[in-house]
Amino acid sequence: MDIIEQFKKQLQGLDVSPETEEVGEVTEVKDGVVKISGLKGVENFEMVEFDEAGVMGLVLNLEEYEVGAVILGSDKNIKEGTTVKRTKKVFSVPVGEGLLGRVVDPLGRPLDGKGEIKAKEHLPLERKGPSVIERQAVTKPLHTGIKMIDALIPIGRGQRELIIGDRGLGKTAIALDAIINQKNEKNRPYCIYVACGQKKAKVRRLIATLEKEGAMEYTTVVCAFPDDPASFVFLAPFAGATIGEYFRDNKQDALVVYDDLTRQAWAWREISLILRRPPGREAYPGDVFYLHSRLLERAAMMSDEMGGGSLTALPVIETQAGDISGYIPTNVISITDGQIFLDSTLFRKEQKPAINIGTSVSRVGSSAQMKATKKVAGRLKLDLAQFQELERFSEFTEELDPQTKKTIERGKRMRMLLRQPDLAPLPIEKEVIVIFTGANSDIEEVPMDKIKEFETEVVRMVELEKPEIMKEIRDTGDMSDASKNAVLEVIKKIKKGYGA
Ligand SMILES: Nc1ncnc2c1ncn2[C@@H]1O[C@H](COP(=O)(O)OP(=O)(O)OP(=O)(O)O)[C@@H](O)[C@H]1O
Ligand SMILES: [Mg+2]
Repeated sequence: MDIIEQFKKQLQGLDVSPETEEVGEVTEVKDGVVKISGLKGVENFEMVEFDEAGVMGLVLNLEEYEVGAVILGSDKNIKEGTTVKRTKKVFSVPVGEGLLGRVVDPLGRPLDGKGEIKAKEHLPLERKGPSVIERQAVTKPLHTGIKMIDALIPIGRGQRELIIGDRGLGKTAIALDAIINQKNEKNRPYCIYVACGQKKAKVRRLIATLEKEGAMEYTTVVCAFPDDPASFVFLAPFAGATIGEYFRDNKQDALVVYDDLTRQAWAWREISLILRRPPGREAYPGDVFYLHSRLLERAAMMSDEMGGGSLTALPVIETQAGDISGYIPTNVISITDGQIFLDSTLFRKEQKPAINIGTSVSRVGSSAQMKATKKVAGRLKLDLAQFQELERFSEFTEELDPQTKKTIERGKRMRMLLRQPDLAPLPIEKEVIVIFTGANSDIEEVPMDKIKEFETEVVRMVELEKPEIMKEIRDTGDMSDASKNAVLEVIKKIKKGYGA
């Protein structure tokens, strides 16, 4: 049954006594958005019913004398003067395991033609994030399978990490790989991908990829397309958060991707302009900061008393010409626990994923990093930064002392090791072996054009000859000294083959 029909049915049993019944009147209609006067005490995201037309609306904006609402359905029969009734129900979407493998719209209606959604319950679209007491610090890793991120900008479960960059630099690719990589993980988080204002063809391709990679079975896709009403694009991230919260609050882990929040901000601006709310900076309404903060507050690592579940959020923001000082980027940067910044120069140089190590950070994730990763990646970020500095400097000099030369040659190879195609997330134990190889063997001895081959070979040989080491990393999150020596032996053998 259609969710709005369902909702109406629920209402039939509801007792709305004459004293408490609050009725208002439409004062203005435009582009599916209405202004209503006379609805006292109405709540944000509350459903309202347009009496004469029998259509439902969703309250989105509360002001002292007037409220704004979007019409869920056709606005054909809604005119100035149409009566509007409160329902005292905040709009809810279906949640639970029944949503896994499904594609839905922001109202929770199926878009995949696979029949009715079998939902255990419905939860409100808008809920407050957990309080400080209900949370705990981030301690468990959320592995993306992307070497650069897991080694250098590690993400923890319950964290909010922003993916930011210009068009076409691989923002979606990172989020998609993170979802696909969960199939390699213990205590696999459920995933929600919110396609917010993205073209249908692109989303269709993405879903096909998820299916092909076997990731759809633990994933829900929420879609609002550019030709949907602005309210759908606005609501989609909220629906994604609600679907994720169900798992978070049931002692499970979930990962939600909001791709992207730039478009949600545009939709909110559009709705606000129709409602003629005073435009502020870049014509966004003043509460656009609050919009994103209350959405991202819902990501959390819950305390043990609250079940210890988690919701990790990866919001995406698009920038123009790498400018992160715009209103929306600065807002979201300040709300999140770090950002992965994609750089067009790196992308052009084929250094992909094009993550700028200098400007990317993860403020809480390193405490969630596995021991093995932490040990091998410890100095890596510093070393890479130092190398980049030297590399720039060396462009201006002919003569380099041997030590500097060595640092540069190492750095170049390390950077090459960190390259990784999209749709190829690596299980964490393999990532650890690669990073270990880069950090602990003299990789400058391997010819530059053989370095990727060398990487593959090391992983393959360790897997073949020392499967127990792979198992050790996976099971204990650590690597013993004996294992390290064994891996170094394997590396030595392979290096000989390259004449090192
Ligand atoms: N690590 C990678 N290695 C090789 N190619 C990559 C990598 N990451 C992304 N790409 C390619 O770059 C292109 C753009 O990627 P993607 O769509 O993820 O970018 P985006 O930033 O999300 O773009 P948009 O702004 O259009 O949403 C795609 O063709 C993708 O396959
Ligand atoms: Mg994208």
